[in-house]
Formats: sequence, C-alpha cells, structure tokens
Amino acid sequence: MIPELSNPSVCMKDPQRVEEILLAMQKAGSNTLQVISDFDMTLTRFAYNGKRCPTCHNILDNSKLISEDCKEKLKELLHTYYPIEIDSTLSAEQKLPLMVEWWTKAHTLLIEQRIRKDWLAQVVQESEAKLRDGFQLFFDHLQEHSVPLLIFSAGIGDVLEEVIRQAGVFHPNVKVFSNYMDFDEAGILRAFKGELIHIYNKREGALLNSDHFQELSHRHNILLLGDSLGDLNMADGVHNTENILKIGYLNDKVEERKQSYLNAFDIVLLKDETLEVANAILLYITGKK
Ligand code: TMP
Ligand code: MG
Repeated sequence: MIPELSNPSVCMKDPQRVEEILLAMQKAGSNTLQVISDFDMTLTRFAYNGKRCPTCHNILDNSKLISEDCKEKLKELLHTYYPIEIDSTLSAEQKLPLMVEWWTKAHTLLIEQRIRKDWLAQVVQESEAKLRDGFQLFFDHLQEHSVPLLIFSAGIGDVLEEVIRQAGVFHPNVKVFSNYMDFDEAGILRAFKGELIHIYNKREGALLNSDHFQELSHRHNILLLGDSLGDLNMADGVHNTENILKIGYLNDKVEERKQSYLNAFDIVLLKDETLEVANAILLYITGKK
C-alpha cells in the first residue's frame, strides 16, 4: 500500500489497523485532515553525523547569549533531567513534577541572562539545529493541499519560529503552540508568556487552545507525530476525532522503550532521522500515490 512502511526503521504492533486507518483517511480526503506535530526531536533531527542536534532550548544554551557560568548550570540541568525524561522505569505521574522543575529552573536561568530579542535570528543561524530530511516536502505539501499543521512544542516558540522561518517553510497553514518569550520595551527577555508547556501537560495546553480546534472542527482525521509519550495528548482538544494515526519517533534508549512505544503509537520509527514515512503517508492520503 505504502512501500515506505516496509523500511527497516518502521515497527507496528498492528499493521492491519494502520492499513484500515490509512484507507479511511484517504477515502475522506485532505479536506478532513489536520496534522499535529511535536517539534524538538520530531520535526528536528536527533543526531547528525553521530552528534546530538540541539533542541530549541539547547540552541540558546549553546549560544553566545549565555554566560559560561550559566552554560554550566544549564548543562547540569540537562544531565540531571534528560535521563529522567527518557527513563522507561518511571511513570508519567512520577516524571511530571520533575519535568516542571526542569523547565522552571531552565527558564529562570534564561531570564537571568537578559536575552535580547534582536539576537535570536543570528543565534539560530549560527546553531546546529537541523530539520529532518524531507522537511521541505512535508511543509510544502501540507501548504499546497491547505492542510493545517499545528506544531505543539514544549520548546521555545520564538526559537522554533525562527528555525522554520530560516528554512523557508513557515507557511500560512502553520500554527504554533509553545512557550513564548516576553520581552520588555528594550527587547530584553523578562519572562515567559502564559501557561508553561512541558512534555507532560500537552493535554492541558490543547484544552486551553480550544478556539483553534473549534475552527478546524470539520477536520476529523488527524496525523499526529511525536517523540515522547507526552506527545500523544496533543490531539486531546480535537472535536469528534474520526481517525487518528500516531507516528512516534524512538530516538534514544530504543530497546528499553520499544514496547511502550509500540503500545502507544500506531507506527514507531526506530532511529529514523527522516520524514520519509510521514511524507509517504501524506502523499497517500492526499491522493498523490
Ligand atoms: P518538544 O515538545 O518540542 O519536543 O520540546 C521539549 C524538549 O525540550 C524535550 O525533549 C526536552 C527539551 N529541553 C531541553 O533540551 N532543555 C531544557 O532546558 C528544557 C527545559 C527542555
Ligand atoms: Mg520532542
């Protein structure tokens, strides 16, 4: 049906069910489709040439906007909390307060650095952020078919927008829910706006943005992409979901987490740095295959 589903990186618990969902989505057509995707380590690469790629936060952490002392502190936080994020022996309930702690501490440190808004574009340009191979087709195809793409990220909205703007794919069909920076009149970071989004409260984030989902209420079919089990809740604000196909990138601690990902996502992509499978699915649903 879709040759890319036989790629060595693809794992499915129930291929038959995936086929049924895909058929139903294709039959319904692109007018009923919306795509909801996480950003860091889902639309962006996890690694490139054996080296880890930065998240939105890491783009700032590694930049000249941050003092050496603060870089050390942020690195310490990463080394403390990232292993918790990907620990398969802890439940989401156990991780949640620790993730809030991570985000809160990191944002407090970033605010102390008095980051200037007018430097963000350059910092992103100089960073090693990389969208996954096939991103151009992914974004352009959705735009051409007027399919809305919601990027739902616990990263930093201002940085994320800059990454996709510089890549030339911040099309009008793209909407972003994320943590946005609040700058003072002089353009210096003084806080983060609104409710904090971390990797385990995307459900609450979705419900707070009910207007967006209301506008798209005729789009009952959802393609969801994520790399964390917390990303599964990104579609919780959608009205009357008919079909949902969940694609999960499993980038790290693959063997330990494989079973839980297979139970949660319809398609699991093991150490796959591309958007090839998502693109093939989109072409199929929108009738180009
Ligand atoms: P996402 O929702 O777009 O994937 O963004 C969340 C990622 O950001 C998550 O994998 C952890 C990561 N992160 C950092 O790399 N550094 C930080 O300081 C924080 C708070 C999160
Ligand atoms: Mg992610």
